[in-house]
Amino acid sequence: MVSLADQRMSGHHAPVMATEVVEKLLHRTNGTYIDATFGRGGHSRALLMGMPGIARLVGIDRDQDAHDAGEILSQKDNRFELVRGCFSEMKSLAAAVGITAADGVLMDIGVSSPQLDDPRRGFSFRADGPLDMRMDQTQALSAAEWLNGAELDEITTVLRDYGEERFARRIADQIVRQRPIASTIALAEIIAAAVPPPKRRGHRSASTKHPATKSFQAIRIFINQERAELEAGLEAGWSLLRPGGRLGIITFHSLEDRLVKQRFRQLAEPPQLPRRLPVRAKDAQPEGRLIGKAMRAGAKEVSQNPRARSAMFRVIEKLTEVDNG
Ligand SMILES: C[S@@+](CC[C@H](N)C(=O)[O-])C[C@H]1O[C@@H](n2cnc3c(N)ncnc32)[C@H](O)[C@@H]1O
Repeated sequence: MVSLADQRMSGHHAPVMATEVVEKLLHRTNGTYIDATFGRGGHSRALLMGMPGIARLVGIDRDQDAHDAGEILSQKDNRFELVRGCFSEMKSLAAAVGITAADGVLMDIGVSSPQLDDPRRGFSFRADGPLDMRMDQTQALSAAEWLNGAELDEITTVLRDYGEERFARRIADQIVRQRPIASTIALAEIIAAAVPPPKRRGHRSASTKHPATKSFQAIRIFINQERAELEAGLEAGWSLLRPGGRLGIITFHSLEDRLVKQRFRQLAEPPQLPRRLPVRAKDAQPEGRLIGKAMRAGAKEVSQNPRARSAMFRVIEKLTEVDNG
């Protein structure tokens, strides 16, 4: 069993909405659960603490540091084990440890605080470091390699589509002109110089987000293929659920939340069937039911963990027979 002291010492990532996660996902004793974004195990620990009778919890993460943290947890608690890999491969990763169906799957999308806070990982412009941004350190393409070789149009599209950056073209243009770029601060300075000052951007004060925030987010999403991973991970998690099993997803920006919201709604609607043809009642049933509305962190949690401010937590329960084909 893991104690509260272990929980506090487990690293520097405060799990977002941990109470809500435990309440909504842990609805069966002795179930099989998957934490598809282990990070530093904040949610995994909360799940293990929340249900003493839990049969099994498998953590997944593509980051080697997260994997190392998971190894420590697995030595302390034999109900837990960690597999390294992408959650788009959740079905094969779970199968490799003998799991073909689950009672709950959690996905807490994005980067962890330890990833953001370590300048060597290159995710943040708050401290200087190599322009890396790979969640999986064994992946071939780093942010620097991509930015220093990509076409102007490709960079513009990434900044626009994944960062909703108004000044995507201007920023991309400056990036191309000032290449090669090797460090996070160098890139942040190029971006800051490329965009108009806050007042001309429509902001009344200078206390707005750093002008590089959206571009860094966009480049990170692109480098880690986060949108495709989310789409595939959602489907993999859903297909692993037993009837009555629940999939919970926490997202941190509107693009991701929209994707989750739309797919969950679709799963909770009855399928479109040809009119006037006889159908079996079970074929007209939706595959899932939404568990409440989207949840947000409470004011107290946000005051203690500002990262929770933009979190959205959505949960869906499977109604139909599990199809593991
Ligand atoms: C927001 S953090 C999760 C924090 C975790 N819930 C906790 O309480 O410590 C997201 C984690 O998911 C991992 N991750 C992101 N995308 C992934 C993917 N496609 N496959 C596997 N792991 C992924 C990241 O490496 C990171 O460690």
